[in-house]
Amino acid sequence: MREYPTFVTHLECSMTGKTYPADTIQGLSEVGRPLLVRYDLDALGKAITKEDLASRLEGGFWRYREFLPVRKSENAVALGEVMTPLIDLPQLSAELGGKIIVKDEGRLPTGSFKARGLALAVSMAKELGLNHLAMPTNGNAGAAMAAYASHAGMKTTIFCPEDTPEVNVSEIELQGATVYRVNGLINDCGKIVGEGKESVGWFDVSTLKEPYRIEGKKTMGIELAEQMGWTLPDTIFYPTGGGTGLIGMWKAFAELQTIGWLTGKMPRMIAVQATGCAPIVKAYEDGEEHAPLWENAHTMASGIRVPIAVGDFLILRAVRESGGFAIAVDDDAIQDAQEEVAKREGLLLCPEGAATYAAYKQSLADGRVGKGESAVLYNCATGLKYPMPRIDRALDRNKPIDYSQFS
Ligand SMILES: Cc1ncc(COP(=O)(O)O)c(C=O)c1O
Repeated sequence: MREYPTFVTHLECSMTGKTYPADTIQGLSEVGRPLLVRYDLDALGKAITKEDLASRLEGGFWRYREFLPVRKSENAVALGEVMTPLIDLPQLSAELGGKIIVKDEGRLPTGSFKARGLALAVSMAKELGLNHLAMPTNGNAGAAMAAYASHAGMKTTIFCPEDTPEVNVSEIELQGATVYRVNGLINDCGKIVGEGKESVGWFDVSTLKEPYRIEGKKTMGIELAEQMGWTLPDTIFYPTGGGTGLIGMWKAFAELQTIGWLTGKMPRMIAVQATGCAPIVKAYEDGEEHAPLWENAHTMASGIRVPIAVGDFLILRAVRESGGFAIAVDDDAIQDAQEEVAKREGLLLCPEGAATYAAYKQSLADGRVGKGESAVLYNCATGLKYPMPRIDRALDRNKPIDYSQFS
């Protein structure tokens, strides 16, 4: 990887604005809220042009190095990242009268968008000399952290809810971490990580509890802008758990606007949750700035089963500032959406990605999104990681075959 200049100036508390030094180990701010990385955007804007970027050969998110905090290329941990494709859904768009594009994050290392955030968190951990990382996960984040940390020679300890998809638990352990199933939800796992910090000495890589995962997620927004010729769609539907992706994209768009690379209209950011776990939707509808713990959280879309989020106010702020909204869909709608897109368009979405399609349809039907508006739906992981219906259709080759059944 080539050496590029970096532009980080400091870290800033997302709640109070208090500044903290960069290049030192940091978790949450003094008031227990996320720290955001700030850059000298003026210098950044002068150091690189869109044309420079277009001429780069690296295909994945490391091509946006100037927008990222890693100082030395040797610390950038890479596992073969790619630019994830934008895929039209022509048949469903024609039928619904809309314009639907899926950004398929399932093509990244470990099969999910978590690669972006964890590649950055692990690279910064390497740069700052950390060697034992811990995190709570609903599955995909743990898999990405295990992979990137093992690649960098770091130890990882991971805690997930006991009903986390089997494939996630197995891939986490196979990729070098030690994983524990916990009889609770992701926030219960997070408590264990937080409480173990002092005695074990591990570093807490929970969503938004360190400053760098969000910087990785930011690349979802920069990449989308570059792919769309530095314009953005009318709406972005994002499956929202801890919200790093949505907050990260909104931060990316603001930075790109500041350096003058984005001049058009910003997209409406639409936070999609499941009706069984919809704290952000409730807070949005109640006009609140924070989203209290959602009791008895349940949904088949395990990645968005997040009962409480430390960055709740940042998600709500991005949704409101953008003129978007928050919407919940039930598990039946998620399952129908997954089947519809897979059968009609040949694209197997993960349940969280399917939730965005269900939410899009619902928004189109209730008029919150217009037919003429373009929509980018984030499919954050490959559908292949999740349980699928068993197919029992069989043929006995020793009996006469009635070929009329195939036509
Ligand atoms: C597939 C999938 N979609 C969405 C999410 C939610 O992501 P975020 O934390 O950015 O809200 C997750 C998180 O685990 C996930 O695994």
